[in-house]
Amino acid sequence: MQNVGLQQYYWLRHAGVTIGGRQGMESACMSLSDAMINRKSIRGYRPDSVPQDILRQIIGLAIESPSASNAQPWELAVLTGTPLEELNKITVDLWERGVPVSPDVAPADLFGDYVRRRKEVGKQVFQLLGIQREDRAARREWNRKALRFFDAPAGVIIYTDASLERSRTDFDLGIMTEALCLAAMCFGLGTCIDQQAISYPEAIRQVVGLAESKRITAAVSIGYPDWEFPANKLKSSREPVDAVASWHGF
Ligand SMILES: Cc1cc2nc3c(=O)[nH]c(=O)nc-3n(C[C@H](O)[C@H](O)[C@H](O)COP(=O)(O)O)c2cc1C
Repeated sequence: MQNVGLQQYYWLRHAGVTIGGRQGMESACMSLSDAMINRKSIRGYRPDSVPQDILRQIIGLAIESPSASNAQPWELAVLTGTPLEELNKITVDLWERGVPVSPDVAPADLFGDYVRRRKEVGKQVFQLLGIQREDRAARREWNRKALRFFDAPAGVIIYTDASLERSRTDFDLGIMTEALCLAAMCFGLGTCIDQQAISYPEAIRQVVGLAESKRITAAVSIGYPDWEFPANKLKSSREPVDAVASWHGF
């Protein structure tokens, strides 16, 4: 293994591994802590398709996640090939026509340190991509890519019953989504949770055949990372533990 960092080493080591069942999974996959430390958003992919069998195993692991009352409120639509291309085309066309985005679940309004962190990661991504602040054309092109699941060979739409109480249910979906991202790493796959890909839920409903009674909560791009893609070099920062945790009774 030449010239690869620890992260690439782990991911390459497991790329293409087909794991037959849950028994023996531990020995075939990296440790949980390695996966948690090394997971990061992947925004550039190789074109290789992801076998359905692997995606099925990843979802099988992800839905081991806990949920309130074990309600398991998650549903997933997995797209590749023509349906994914069709969805990407409709989404980008809507955006090009200036249709206002109207996701079922909008990003939170941020302020203060939250905005600072959002700006920091955005700046880092653009710096790696070599896109200047004033380069509107390049920024628009990048936005198109985000709308298109970062051109990943597969995309997962995560949705639920719209009549379920929102905050508790979306919390459950969030837990499952992170598990999906971690499970993908066992197979050498990268992911990026992609709010931009759910900008136009009607497009998704049309392509996937989803009823109005479903709330589209998240989308995840998934595929084999292109490690040469500059934005994939980013390891975003985190606040230290003692900035986020207080200790009582120690
Ligand atoms: C709910 C959610 C939505 C996200 N949407 C986007 C998105 O639209 N575009 C994007 O580039 N990254 C998106 N991300 C990825 C975050 O920017 C990323 O997780 C964060 O910067 C931390 O970086 P890391 O995932 O590499 O650790 C999203 C992440 C989450 C959890």
